[in-house]
Amino acid sequence: MAIEGMLKELKEKKDKLKMGGGKKKLETQHAKGKLSARERLDILLDKGSFTEINGLIKHRAVDFGLDKTDIPGDGVITGYGTIEGRLVYVFSQDFTVMGGSLGEAHAFKISYVMDQARKIGVPVIGINDSGGARIQEGVDSLKGYGEIFYRNTIASGVIPQITAIMGPCAGGAVYSPALGDFVFMTENTSYMFITGPQVVKTVLHQDVTFEELGGAHVHETKSGMAHRVGKNDEDTLNLMRTLFSFLPSNNMEDPPAIETTDDPLRETPELYSIIPEDSNKGYHASDVVKAILDNNDFFELHPNFAPNIIIGFGRLDGKVVGIVANNPSHIAGVLDINSSDKASRFVRFCDAFNIPIVTFVDTPGYMPGLDQEHGGIIRHGAKLLYAYSEATVPLLTVIVRKAYGGAYIAMASKHLRSDVVYALPTAEIAVMGPKGACEIVFRKEIAEASNPEKKTEELSEDYKNKFANPYMAAARGYVDDIIDPKNLRTALINSLRVYYSKKEVLPKKKHGMIPF
Ligand code: HXC
Repeated sequence: MAIEGMLKELKEKKDKLKMGGGKKKLETQHAKGKLSARERLDILLDKGSFTEINGLIKHRAVDFGLDKTDIPGDGVITGYGTIEGRLVYVFSQDFTVMGGSLGEAHAFKISYVMDQARKIGVPVIGINDSGGARIQEGVDSLKGYGEIFYRNTIASGVIPQITAIMGPCAGGAVYSPALGDFVFMTENTSYMFITGPQVVKTVLHQDVTFEELGGAHVHETKSGMAHRVGKNDEDTLNLMRTLFSFLPSNNMEDPPAIETTDDPLRETPELYSIIPEDSNKGYHASDVVKAILDNNDFFELHPNFAPNIIIGFGRLDGKVVGIVANNPSHIAGVLDINSSDKASRFVRFCDAFNIPIVTFVDTPGYMPGLDQEHGGIIRHGAKLLYAYSEATVPLLTVIVRKAYGGAYIAMASKHLRSDVVYALPTAEIAVMGPKGACEIVFRKEIAEASNPEKKTEELSEDYKNKFANPYMAAARGYVDDIIDPKNLRTALINSLRVYYSKKEVLPKKKHGMIPF
């Protein structure tokens, strides 16, 4: 064949590939409010930066008539491109091609980009829109998922792994995201479940909708699977680009620093009014966090899951920091099972990827009660102690108000090797809150008093003056300094400059035992 013929053949094949499952399927995809697999990559990546690989792959399945079925790209588009000029490997499942189901060749393509990403040391982003294991390919599909899960695990803590859920994702399609670092979903069009409503009906005789079982709202608020939810595909992809701007490419690099326009010496007197004088009054922790960060810019993760603690990224002095803050506006900022899980996982991510952590403390303690004890608050709460104790990145802590009991210790205290602990004059650091402490220590005196309520009040006031302040901790050297809130941003920036290049090495071991 002459070269003209060869080029024509090549063009035809590539044009066909671009059409995915064809015009009709694409229209159905759009009618559902979803973008196509290629349109999604166009938004996620810098314009014109995408290079496709393994597009012309062919499956070798023969059962159920697959030997006569052409499956363009085997239902997934893979390759690499850039986000703000930084390299990233990507895969985008194409629901218009056999429901984005995963067969042997499809899995090979995903595994291949994961291998390249790890070899080069760049993040991998997957866009999932898939009915799970391709039923017709049987155990080859399962093998494909196994290969991916293995790679997710080996790459964990080496390169960031980010997933968008952009359709109905069932079975294997949800475990790869769960093994990665961040999951994004889209309102009304994305679902995650291990088995769909039909199977739930058969096995458990329960009627549930897609939305109730695994919609974005469920994973955003109840399961904690989704880190952020976009209003539509475009919104979700732009959120992912923002997240990407805070992440290093791999565990050997620092996260991308920028020149900030925000003065490091900027005072933060707004903290006087944000933090109420009455320590039983709530305030939103993100107001404190935003006041401190460069340009008041805070990218929150899990904003609607366990809102009694907030986590996310921002910058101080142009350098990326991870934020963990008890949030007194929701159940007083208490530490419960979900908030412990949420924060410890985040601390672990920051530690794996060289991101300093700034912790703001205002919590009455770990949550007591039957539900929490039976649900395993001891085990889950221990994760937070473990994560902070093992973290070797710079740890800066601000005790804003309450720091009581185990929660005082867990929230990046000096005793877990935090580098700098500041307290504001409003800080209360003690084993227990005044009332609870007096009712235990002075039980007899209160019982014998003519007016037990008044007696409790008097004793509590006395206790408060003695213990519910930062001075005893400062006297012991458990806090580095008590500072005026208006100087907090500058103090944190100065500390970050001092500790940014800190190096700490843990004892050699195969691995520790996180209280899973
Ligand atoms: C092969 C599949 C498929 C699958 C969908 N399709 N899922 N083909 N294997 N797993 C095909 C459909 O046959 C259809 O083909 C096309 O994709 C679109 O699917 P529809 O059902 O028409 O779309 P929709 O109504 O939107 O429903 C989407 C869906 C549903 C909710 C995903 O298809 C579904 O329930 N699929 C099965 C989901 C599931 O249980 N997967 C788990 C697999 S087990 P045509 O030719 O008609 O266009 C698994 C194990 C791994 O993943 C375990 C690891 C731990």
